[in-house]
Amino acid sequence: MDRDSKSTKRVHRALRWCFLSIDPDCKTVTIRFDVPLRLVLGSLILFWHSGAQAADRPAPTWPHAAVATDHPVASQAGVEILQQGGNAVDAAVAVGFALSVLRPASSGMGGGGFMVIWDAERQQSIALDYRERAPMAASRDMFLKDGLPADASRKGGLAVAVPGHVAGLCHALDKFGVLSLPKVLAPAIRMAEDGVILDTRECETRVDLFHSLSGTGLGQRFPHLRRHYSIAENPKAGLRITSPQLPLLKLIAASGPDAFYTADAAKQITETVRSAGGIMALEDLSRMDVVERRPLTGALDDLTVVTMPPPSSGGIVLLQSLNILNSMGSRHFNGRIESLGHNSPEYLHVLAETMKHAFADRAEFLGDADFADVPVQRLISQKYAEQLAGTIRLDRTGQPDDYGRFMLNDDAGTSHFSIIDASGNAVSCTETINTGYGSWVVEPKYGIVLNNEMDDFAAKPGVPNAFGLRQSESNAVAPRKKPLSSMTPTILVRDGKAVYVAGGSGGPRIISTTLQVVLNMTRFKMDPRRAVEMPRIHHQWQPDTLYIEEPLIDRVKTDMEKFGHRVKLRNKIAVCQAAARVSAGVTAHSDSRKHGKAAGF
Ligand code: DON
Repeated sequence: MDRDSKSTKRVHRALRWCFLSIDPDCKTVTIRFDVPLRLVLGSLILFWHSGAQAADRPAPTWPHAAVATDHPVASQAGVEILQQGGNAVDAAVAVGFALSVLRPASSGMGGGGFMVIWDAERQQSIALDYRERAPMAASRDMFLKDGLPADASRKGGLAVAVPGHVAGLCHALDKFGVLSLPKVLAPAIRMAEDGVILDTRECETRVDLFHSLSGTGLGQRFPHLRRHYSIAENPKAGLRITSPQLPLLKLIAASGPDAFYTADAAKQITETVRSAGGIMALEDLSRMDVVERRPLTGALDDLTVVTMPPPSSGGIVLLQSLNILNSMGSRHFNGRIESLGHNSPEYLHVLAETMKHAFADRAEFLGDADFADVPVQRLISQKYAEQLAGTIRLDRTGQPDDYGRFMLNDDAGTSHFSIIDASGNAVSCTETINTGYGSWVVEPKYGIVLNNEMDDFAAKPGVPNAFGLRQSESNAVAPRKKPLSSMTPTILVRDGKAVYVAGGSGGPRIISTTLQVVLNMTRFKMDPRRAVEMPRIHHQWQPDTLYIEEPLIDRVKTDMEKFGHRVKLRNKIAVCQAAARVSAGVTAHSDSRKHGKAAGF
């Protein structure tokens, strides 16, 4: 059962105890008996429940700066660094390391990421690519060999690509930060040493892990994951969790990224990966680099959209979608797509058609542009968007072949954070180890959770990956190539100032989520909380299914089926953290879908 419906059931049970009953929409409450004490308690429960889910409260605003991450303590770590005189990049580096400790299922030193930076002083944007690379011994057909377990690209040593996280964060700090490495590592070190109270989300993740590892042989296959990161049951009182990563964090603070890439940790990582059936070598780690790329840019009204180029597909699909919507707007709706009404069936249909076209092109064309020929400029041109918009019918959806020719892989293994500082700099950063706890291979000495990013390649051409995505030769495995990503860290700039920051976690659903949150903030004028909390849809062309969150699905299902869409309920369509500059300062929100909380000062 989905966690949202579990929590709704709990609320209903509690309310029944209070002699209240509540309809499935949580809109009407019927008082069955007038028992004052129970009524008061019932009201409190309702207040808490609606508060946790409501999109209607305004997002908090801070006068100087804000940090939105998917863990409340990580957001505080970012603020601590900003208050010490750090800029948005210093805060981002502190957050990145803190999340390695706080959300080990989602991101960390065994993974990689993308960071889009807006440098207000130089009026410049930059995209840092510290995505993992395939090991040098990798080959196109490595996952097609006989005798490999069916999940070889997802679990175990072969799934592990060379981590870029530590290199990326250290590079960002060195080039764009103002504080020292020991200073920005201090919060993560403190958390790893003194421990942090386990929050609801982390507790559920670790208990779920314990159950997944029990009685299936997986516990024996992944003993270090079980020892370091699973817990048998929900502790009654708040449990303080320390981290095995502490000694490595201290070594990195003392001697920089070499502590990870050439010293003892490198030896431990390669030995662990190889004994789990992998092919990573010491040289893969010592050669790991960070690539500075020019971000992709596009226009949305008077804003410049600054987003991630390949090896992410996120920026291309986002810009292509915005262009198609722009063209649909001019063709049919006097330039204002929002005139259709937020989340109306007509608006959702146009959105879904747009996603189907953009994801079909993702499947056919996209891959690491350093290796494959990716027609980036054509895909993000307005002219191409016009052509696609010309094929969209307002009354019904088409067959898969109408969108793409190429027939081609949960929000668990990724973490996104958005930061705007007091000087107008901004960071939009998404980091990943791919699926929850990555490859499940954990280096025992320092507890490094190693990614399974090899599954983001078209590991078995023609076979969908963990996210149901089918992909072409452009994304086949090759030595040192980077697997195509959907991460979409994005900043919107107006008059030289970062105005909106957004991005998310949740595989391909990151792109559709970022698109909708950007539209909600810009076109529908919602603040970050409302923009993020609104129910969303997702279509990735294949499977030919339109996913819709509750409670929106109840309202629009019949209409969407009339357009010809195959509709399916899916809750938690990705997780988004967003921030916005407003006249009173900076406002930010962390998605309640992952129990994050923004902070600021
Ligand atoms: O780079 C990508 O597209 C995937 N590795 C992202 C995976 C993801 O978001 C999983 N969940 N949070």
